[in-house]
Amino acid sequence: MKILITGGLGYIGSHVTVLLIQNGYEVVCIDNLVNTSLSVLDGITSITNKKPYFEDIDVCDTKKLKELFNKHSDISGVIHFAAFKAVGESVNDPLKYYENNIGGLIKILKYTVDKSIPFIFSSSCTVYGEADELPITEEAPLKKANSPYGNTKKIGESIVEDCCAAFKDFNAILLRYFNPIGAHESSKIGESPQGIPQNIIPFLTQAVAGKQSHLKVFGSNYNTSDGTCIRDYIHIMDLAQAHIDSLNYLIEAKNSNSCEVYNVGTGNGVSVLELIKAFEKATGEKVPYELSEPRSGDTVAAYADPKKINKKIGWVAKHTLEEALQSAWNWEVSLNSDT
Ligand code: UD1
Repeated sequence: MKILITGGLGYIGSHVTVLLIQNGYEVVCIDNLVNTSLSVLDGITSITNKKPYFEDIDVCDTKKLKELFNKHSDISGVIHFAAFKAVGESVNDPLKYYENNIGGLIKILKYTVDKSIPFIFSSSCTVYGEADELPITEEAPLKKANSPYGNTKKIGESIVEDCCAAFKDFNAILLRYFNPIGAHESSKIGESPQGIPQNIIPFLTQAVAGKQSHLKVFGSNYNTSDGTCIRDYIHIMDLAQAHIDSLNYLIEAKNSNSCEVYNVGTGNGVSVLELIKAFEKATGEKVPYELSEPRSGDTVAAYADPKKINKKIGWVAKHTLEEALQSAWNWEVSLNSDT
């Protein structure tokens, strides 16, 4: 069975590509390489002993997309990752985000809906904003997005939902990720942000490796157990597995609604200080950090109620936080030994 994965060389996409290959799927991987590099393809090939079909295609490039779907008329599933994801950048350059994230989604859907190809959309817990109740269930009301990036996820969900309503045989799953961290156990693929990392784990591992002076803990007076923000950190391989399980569920037509939405998280809320302690315990490395001002727009606390995906799709997060943190550190070490 042939699966198209857009943004297949990105952080999440590359780990999903590995699992798709290892689950016997034939993978058609596209990526425009703006936020990743071709070396990721070597990493995937080295882990799986199989080089996936790859083309350097921007999902906004209608001509190339059309050629791709003509060439691979037997695609039986689409997992759509290709999108920009820097929250701060999206505030300064909203049109870039709407054009790419919404424009790209619409273009890919045009080739998907009328062929009724099962579709997985990469959404985010950011759609919940500051939730009124924790843990967050899928029924929680969606809040006004606090960035254009977050808004592209909300709008993207609606577009997919509307397509499911309009095209009778079109089925889709919206996966709302909490905070993915860590790397493949081989350390051959992982998270490689360009420039200064915005997300906590790549910044933290770079600080431990001496590439950054220290980690700033954004805010320490929040109304939480220790004053720092709470998140649900999920091992990237668990998140990747959720895609395989969701895809199989759709392909086997086990869904009861044409559009279903699932949280993908562990259910454990972890503060920034607890995260630092867990990293130190797992790796034996000291994290240089200092308490700092809050980051504007940050959600105070978000962690998932994952019961729906546990029950309906049969997926559960299997890795511990320490395993995820150890794998993130192993990846950072491997990057430094390459250079
Ligand atoms: C947010 C979204 C997530 C989205 C991601 C895109 C929420 C709850 N999460 O992630 O869905 O996919 O943006 O980038 O809206 N922190 C520090 N110091 C740092 C960096 C981060 O203390 O240098 C703290 C943050 O304040 C936060 C936690 O670490 O409490 C995680 O931050 P980050 O990794 O940036 O992810 P989110 O902002 O949760």
